[in-house]
Amino acid sequence: MSDTPFTFSIPNPGFIPSRVDNHITRRLSALRGQFLDQDAYARLLDREDTLLYAVNEIKRPAAAGELLMGVSIVHPGKVGKEFFMTKGHFHTVLDTAEVYYCLRGEGFMVMETPEGHPAVERLSPGRVLYVPPRWAHRSVCTSRQEDLVTFFTYPGNAGHDYGTIEQQGFCKLVLDTEKGIAIVDNPRWRK
Ligand code: 6PG
Ligand code: NI
Repeated sequence: MSDTPFTFSIPNPGFIPSRVDNHITRRLSALRGQFLDQDAYARLLDREDTLLYAVNEIKRPAAAGELLMGVSIVHPGKVGKEFFMTKGHFHTVLDTAEVYYCLRGEGFMVMETPEGHPAVERLSPGRVLYVPPRWAHRSVCTSRQEDLVTFFTYPGNAGHDYGTIEQQGFCKLVLDTEKGIAIVDNPRWRK
C-alpha cells in the first residue's frame, strides 16, 4: 500500500469514488431480525432479496494512526413502516470515532452507547456528523426516491462489532407514520 499522499474524487452524481479497494453490498437477508415488522420482512424477502445499501471503501492498514475512508449509499425503501437502513455496529476498538459527511439524500444516524444512551441526528447534503468514540451507529434513508449518500472516515484499527446490535438492536427506530417521520422507542430492544 502506498505511503505517499494521494487524492481521489467522488463524482456527483454517481458518488462512486475514483479509487475503490473494496465494494460491499448488503441485502435484506443480511438484516434478519433487525426490522420491527417481521411479517413485512418475510413477505419482502420472499419476493426478492432487495439490495439495501452499498459501500465503496478506500482501504488502509489496520493501524491506529491510519484513516479508512469510503462512501456509503443507502437506497430508499421500507420494511413495514421502517425505512431501509444499515446493519449498524460498534467499533471493536470502542474508543474510536468516525466522521460522516452527507453528500446526497435525507436521513438519520441512529446512535447509542453501550450503556444504552440514544442519539439520533439528521443527515442532509452538506451536513457533517461527528460520531464520538463508544457510539454505535446506523444510517437510515428516509427519502422516498433518493439514495442517502455519505462519505465517512474512521481509524484504521477500529474494526466492526456487529454481534451486539444483531442481538439487541438499537433502542430507537425511525418510522414512517401517518403524522410523518417519527423516532420511537424500539419495543424489542435488548429482548
Ligand atoms: C464503518 C462505517 C461505515 C459503515 C457503512 C455500512 O465503520 O465502516 O461506519 O463505513 O460500515 O455505513 O454500515 P455497516 O458496516 O453497519 O453495514
Ligand atoms: Ni463505523
